[in-house]
Amino acid sequence: MPRISEYFFRAAIVFLIAGIALGLHMSISGNHAVAGAHAHINLLGWVTSALFGGYFALNPAKAVGRLPVIQFFIYTAGVIVMGISLYLLLSGNPAVEPIVAASSMVTFLGVLIFAWIVWMPARH
Ligand code: HEM
Repeated sequence: MPRISEYFFRAAIVFLIAGIALGLHMSISGNHAVAGAHAHINLLGWVTSALFGGYFALNPAKAVGRLPVIQFFIYTAGVIVMGISLYLLLSGNPAVEPIVAASSMVTFLGVLIFAWIVWMPARH
């Protein structure tokens, strides 16, 4: 498996552990206010990271070069900051909204770079 797939799966499983921990916390406390943060950590963090990792494993020719590594760091940093700041926002801290907005854009940039990798021909 390409190294970049390993990176994505290592990040993905950490997001799943954090996402499930938050889900269990909501269930046990009965306070579902942070459901949006839970959903985004699980879906952007666990599901999408694992899909990126799976794509690179199935297309090792696309995993070469620096761009996939740059894409990994941009996307993962975006999701980490977005997950934490969205949690804080939904917990009643409206001041963090600009951080949620900025990190959402960083996450989106990571997705656009992935789109570029998918559409461009592989380097041989
Ligand atoms: C043991 C694991 C999990 C627990 C205990 C859990 C718990 C919860 C709870 C308590 C809610 C709030 C429900 C509500 O207020 O209506 C929720 C919502 C949600 N969860 Fe989970 N969850 C788990 C795993 C997952 C996973 C793995 C995913 C996605 C891959 C996921 C995606 C979602 C989504 C999309 C929502 C709806 C969010 C919203 O309405 O804003 N959950 N979950």
